[in-house]
Amino acid sequence: MEPSKAERESFEVTPWEVRGRVDYRKLAETFGVKLLSESELKVIERHAGELHYLLRRGFFYAHRGLETILSCIEQKTRWALYTGRGPSADLHLGHIVPWMFAKWLCDKFGVELFFEMTDDEKFLIRDISLEDANRYAYDNALTLIALGFKPSQLHLIVDTEDIGYLYRIALRVAKCLTLSTVKHTFGFTDSMNVGAVFFPTLQISVAFLPTELYREKTPVLIPAGIDQDPYFRLARDLAEKLGYPKPSTIYCKFIPALTGEEKMSASRPETAIYVLDDETTVRRKIMNALTGGQPTRELQRRLGGNPENCVVYRYFLAYVDDDSLVCKIYRDCRQGSILCGECKQILFEHIVKLLRVLRENREKAKDRVWEYRLSTKFK
Ligand code: TRP
Repeated sequence: MEPSKAERESFEVTPWEVRGRVDYRKLAETFGVKLLSESELKVIERHAGELHYLLRRGFFYAHRGLETILSCIEQKTRWALYTGRGPSADLHLGHIVPWMFAKWLCDKFGVELFFEMTDDEKFLIRDISLEDANRYAYDNALTLIALGFKPSQLHLIVDTEDIGYLYRIALRVAKCLTLSTVKHTFGFTDSMNVGAVFFPTLQISVAFLPTELYREKTPVLIPAGIDQDPYFRLARDLAEKLGYPKPSTIYCKFIPALTGEEKMSASRPETAIYVLDDETTVRRKIMNALTGGQPTRELQRRLGGNPENCVVYRYFLAYVDDDSLVCKIYRDCRQGSILCGECKQILFEHIVKLLRVLRENREKAKDRVWEYRLSTKFK
């Protein structure tokens, strides 16, 4: 049976699940976050000298309290970046999008990134041992470092090992959070384990950590997938009561699965390109991707394709900085002068180039993770 209109239009986004076709405007409205405005983008552009392509192309599209960070930028006062990862699996290309953006912000604005690996979270909510989650934290950190961060730019926190930096903040946060607020915010039921119920305090704490470490009120900007918003809505509610600046957030859209679903999923390998996939696998996955092309070569030549509805084109937008190439792909597709196979081949070459750099840099990072650890730099 065909889905009804209401079913087609319904979607749900939580930190654990994305279901249905997401209407990002509506989602921003439901969550109560603001859309990035032209004038906000202008401020970033003026001070950075350019706009990152993820901003230009609307991948990062919504925020809470970005004004605070923009005024730090204008007044040249200190701010910091914070993001994180729940390490429970190998990384795919979707995971690294906010990190690429964070790297750009570090470079353009001379700020430092605090990065939380929540191995505790994954142990508590997934079927994974503490040892394995911790191993993934270190493995995932290699790819993060491989994006080119210098040790002075990136401070890595591994929850199970660096809890001493967070625990005092987490306790203060915990004391302000009632069980009913946490249940309500995250949709927890009574069958949830108590560790999972406590965990949000730790994700919130890192937003306040820079203020403790720098010993001065430090506004924080959190680039994240919009599904992480519930944590930071709580963080903003509590901040002032605890004497910290309200953290600001900037949210990006999901990178679609190769098969057309809304979000790449680490649990369904064929839908995502992994950082460690070999080139044969990457080629196969791209060649099998859902496109906006016509069913036959003749129709494609005559009618042209539909880049708006094409995963391959979305990947060009998400991973290829070169505007003139991306525009050409769009035009050629519309006019029917490029076939899907050729277009996929061009994407494949770009993705493989990106993956090669990441893999080489991962090797170089293997003995150097300690240089990036928060505990190496802050005592
Ligand atoms: N909970 C996130 C996840 O499961 C990990 C995380 C921790 C995070 N701190 C963050 C994500 C800050 C974005 C921003 O992946």
